[in-house]
Amino acid sequence: MKKNIAIVCGGDSGEYEISIKSAAVVKKHLSPEKWNTWLVLIKASGWYATLENGEKVPVDKNDFSIQDTQGRKIKFDAVFNAIHGTPGEDGKLLAYFDMLGIPYNSSGATCCALTFHKDFCKRIVASNGVHVADSILINKRDSIDSKEIIKQLGLPVFVKPNNGGSSVGVSKVKNDNELFPAIEKAFREDTQVLIESFVEGREIGCGVVEHKGRMLVFPLTEIISKNEFFDYEAKYTDGMSDEITPAAVDEAIELEIKATAALLYHRIECRGIARFDFILTKEEEIYFLEVNIVPGMSEASIIPKQAECMGISLQKLFDMTLDNLF
Ligand SMILES: Nc1ncnc2c1ncn2[C@@H]1O[C@H](COP(=O)(O)OP(=O)(O)O)[C@@H](O)[C@H]1O
Ligand SMILES: [Mg+2]
Repeated sequence: MKKNIAIVCGGDSGEYEISIKSAAVVKKHLSPEKWNTWLVLIKASGWYATLENGEKVPVDKNDFSIQDTQGRKIKFDAVFNAIHGTPGEDGKLLAYFDMLGIPYNSSGATCCALTFHKDFCKRIVASNGVHVADSILINKRDSIDSKEIIKQLGLPVFVKPNNGGSSVGVSKVKNDNELFPAIEKAFREDTQVLIESFVEGREIGCGVVEHKGRMLVFPLTEIISKNEFFDYEAKYTDGMSDEITPAAVDEAIELEIKATAALLYHRIECRGIARFDFILTKEEEIYFLEVNIVPGMSEASIIPKQAECMGISLQKLFDMTLDNLF
């Protein structure tokens, strides 16, 4: 029997548009022989599913069901999480599905809440013996002593919303006078701002997916931004970055990065697809940058490219994450 799958998308962050694109790709590729799929838009202002005839119908939040054109109730057997940012990647929506007993193909609520909080996540990562950049976390009401910050972290620093994604609100600060405006910009996205020392090196992403109890680590991708760093424009404008898969790194380093990603996937209790981003320094030290629990899924995104490089089609990749649930 085919299973009913809700592909949840949208959300309430600057990554809304990216999520809509990811979800369309997921819907296009999931096996029609195995799954009946619906796009379900989740926004604070309303939850709507799109029926086959294009009609939009509201979701009954009591049991996460919808009604078809004949008024028949449709319940979902599982959820495909395609929401980048809140409430899909920070765990809120997943806790709701846990309460309803509806399985989903991404990491769980606690893992997401942890990984979405960049500062907490770095602490757990560091406690597993992985390098992380030195940093200072500031809250909205904290008084800011820029001299002290620069004394501790040096220059340049990265200033970013503690909870965020797609580089929205992220700045690289090279001069003292740029620090305040950068902090203000990051505070427009979140109530906490993380200031990190700059880690110089090559940016490398590594995807991991669990399939039926086995961990599959994807080939590495080196990200070379044409901008100062991998900012929003470099991420989403054609030609603004080169993403090289597999990355040209020594085999020993490749294995170390993959082992680090696999270790962290296990220790943080990830499920489904996760992409770990690292910086490889000249001294060949591996610094954890962040982990993405709902990484981009458009055809041009890093994870689909890594899967393709391994001979795994998008259909297989997406099906795999749902197969885990049944
Ligand atoms: N400490 C750092 N040192 C060097 N580059 C950084 C650092 N922090 C962030 N970056 C750059 O900024 C980009 C966005 O930062 P990241 O922490 O991944 O935020 P987001 O969740 O918005 O993607 C990274 O992909 C990288 O290019
Ligand atoms: Mg990132």
